[in-house]
Amino acid sequence: MGRKITVNYEQKPCYDIELQQSFQELPEKLKALGYENRKVCIVTDSNVGKLYLEEIQALLEPMFSKCVSYTFEAGEASKNTDTVGKVYEHLILNSFDRKDLLVALGGGVVGDLTGFTAATYLRGIDFIQVPTTLLAQVDSSIGGKTGVDFMQYKNMVGAFYMPKLVYMNLSVLKTLPKRQIASGMGEIIKHGLIKEEAYFSYIVENSAKIQELDMEALEKLVYGSCEIKRKVVENDPKEQGERALLNFGHTLGHAIEKLSGFSLYHGECVALGMAGAGYISMKLGYITEEQLNMIEETIKSYDLPVRIENFSHTPEEILATTKLDKKMESGKVKFIVLKEIGNAVITKELTDAEILAGITYVTGA
Ligand SMILES: NC(=O)c1ccc[n+]([C@@H]2O[C@H](COP(=O)([O-])OP(=O)(O)OC[C@H]3O[C@@H](n4cnc5c(N)ncnc54)[C@H](O)[C@@H]3O)[C@@H](O)[C@H]2O)c1
Ligand SMILES: [Zn+2]
Repeated sequence: MGRKITVNYEQKPCYDIELQQSFQELPEKLKALGYENRKVCIVTDSNVGKLYLEEIQALLEPMFSKCVSYTFEAGEASKNTDTVGKVYEHLILNSFDRKDLLVALGGGVVGDLTGFTAATYLRGIDFIQVPTTLLAQVDSSIGGKTGVDFMQYKNMVGAFYMPKLVYMNLSVLKTLPKRQIASGMGEIIKHGLIKEEAYFSYIVENSAKIQELDMEALEKLVYGSCEIKRKVVENDPKEQGERALLNFGHTLGHAIEKLSGFSLYHGECVALGMAGAGYISMKLGYITEEQLNMIEETIKSYDLPVRIENFSHTPEEILATTKLDKKMESGKVKFIVLKEIGNAVITKELTDAEILAGITYVTGA
């Protein structure tokens, strides 16, 4: 029947996350939210549109007064203000007003862009997330961060804007390329490491089932990750404290991602970043060498890298790039380390030499 998680915002229930194995329940869930007889625009990308747009349209057409769609070229390169402008134009031409609804059907690119469009069109119209990548299901569709890239600057323009519903059909993961599944696993492993040892053990022990996309194992996995992300964003919706823990593996990861020219996937860079941050955690005397090895074996078991050889940039360049990250605070890099498995902490006290040692661990000298 599917599972449900309710996410609170400012101490009040704000939206539900529905975990389903088909799209069938979507009309009913929307009716329960009062969305009948309005206009709806499904925003998607060229890959997801081909696979799922027709099915969603057929489900939504009977209950809305008008059902239109906007499909843009798949890929991060579309996540910009030009595409947002095109969606605005489409909405204006179809006379969308503030009572109408946007549906984000796709991965994090579609979700971030549609959420931002919804946040700004007519000063805000409702939207729902229908995440179709593993990364979007466990991470980007939850928490209300929306935005787009501007020039070469990633996520430079955005808003905190909550969806009215997050509806996920887990069976769409069957069409997702393997490398994208692995990328999503990077965030899932991160969730276990920063918050919940028991969940991390589940990931360690069920690697075979999860990689075969066994639906029962996947549901448990996605549910567990959504719960961890829910708790973190509820405690700190605007990233003033605890939410920064979600950046475990991301300080180095983002730098490597940027310097790789985005040829490595996000989750792959997070995996490398977690290996580096894990090494630093060991050097600080927090986790043991055995634990670090076990973490790395787990990461590798999901087809993610822990070392990057012959990288085109030096460790010093990677360090310099981490300092350009917008998450810096008064000149200090906020770094997330593991006190133990399932318990991460924020530190601003690392020296350049300590960070460099973590980088070199991953890249070689
Ligand atoms: N808002 C947040 O809190 C948050 C968090 C993490 C990441 N993000 C953002 O998310 C984006 C990355 O998201 P992503 O990894 O989902 O990438 P993506 O949206 O580009 O999707 C990856 C690829 O998979 C394809 N695809 C999607 N679903 C599919 C399916 N079911 N079957 C087959 N193909 C499918 C897409 O067309 C695309 O080619 C980045 O822009 C990142 O900044 C946002
Ligand atoms: Zn991430």
